[in-house]
Amino acid sequence: MTTRIVLGIDIGGTGIKGAPVNIDTGELAAPRHRIATPQPATPEAVGAVVKQIVEHFHWSGPIGCTFPAIVHNGVTLSAANVDQTWLNAPAQQILAAATGLPLIILNDADAAGLAEVTFGAAKGRGGKTIVITLGTGIGSALIVNGELITNTEFGHLIFPKDMIAEKYCSAKVKEDKDLSWKEYNPRLNAYLLHLQLLFSPDLIIVGGGVSKKADKFIPEMKGLRCELVAATLKNEAGIIGAALEAAKIFHA
Ligand code: BGC
Repeated sequence: MTTRIVLGIDIGGTGIKGAPVNIDTGELAAPRHRIATPQPATPEAVGAVVKQIVEHFHWSGPIGCTFPAIVHNGVTLSAANVDQTWLNAPAQQILAAATGLPLIILNDADAAGLAEVTFGAAKGRGGKTIVITLGTGIGSALIVNGELITNTEFGHLIFPKDMIAEKYCSAKVKEDKDLSWKEYNPRLNAYLLHLQLLFSPDLIIVGGGVSKKADKFIPEMKGLRCELVAATLKNEAGIIGAALEAAKIFHA
């Protein structure tokens, strides 16, 4: 069998990372390449960086690209933690034009969810899985019997009262407010209990940068009926999920 490789690119607020991914094993086929996100991170400036990543790998096939906002039919419909010029931008069209290659764009947490259900902590799981990514914002992916339900945006739930969840318990909030794990954990715990109340998931997976420190918070979460685990794909989940989506769309 020939090896099926697709380029995955993860666009974030601080870095844009890419690597060719073996979509049958989930392994990166070459070390990932990272370029700092240009400031201001307008669609044109980001397009130029995506092109640089494509050139770095001498890539000429399909590309999957994540983006940290609502992405519906290739259009970016929110801009909570990104440059406001992305609001209602035909992002997929812009990035495809910048590279001259077939390109699909999807939400970053949805990409992480796809990667986790295909190769990671949600693999082979039935029922409902919620993937939460804790970073600058809070991203979410809902997977029902192995199928991803896109653009759930659970980080924007009103929680607690009069607040948006990601302003209460993202990794950035922990850092900005200099919260110790002892101070931060009750916030995360309350948010996870709220998700449980609303969705009764069978499994919650916590990803994003903090998942590397899972031992600091996973054992401290109380009152959950469902299983709670750290993401297994860590930093690479976005790249892998983006490549998987592109493989599906472009029949790679
Ligand atoms: C955005 C989501 C994104 C998450 C993580 C939120 O602010 O609204 O679309 O998935 O941040 O980057």
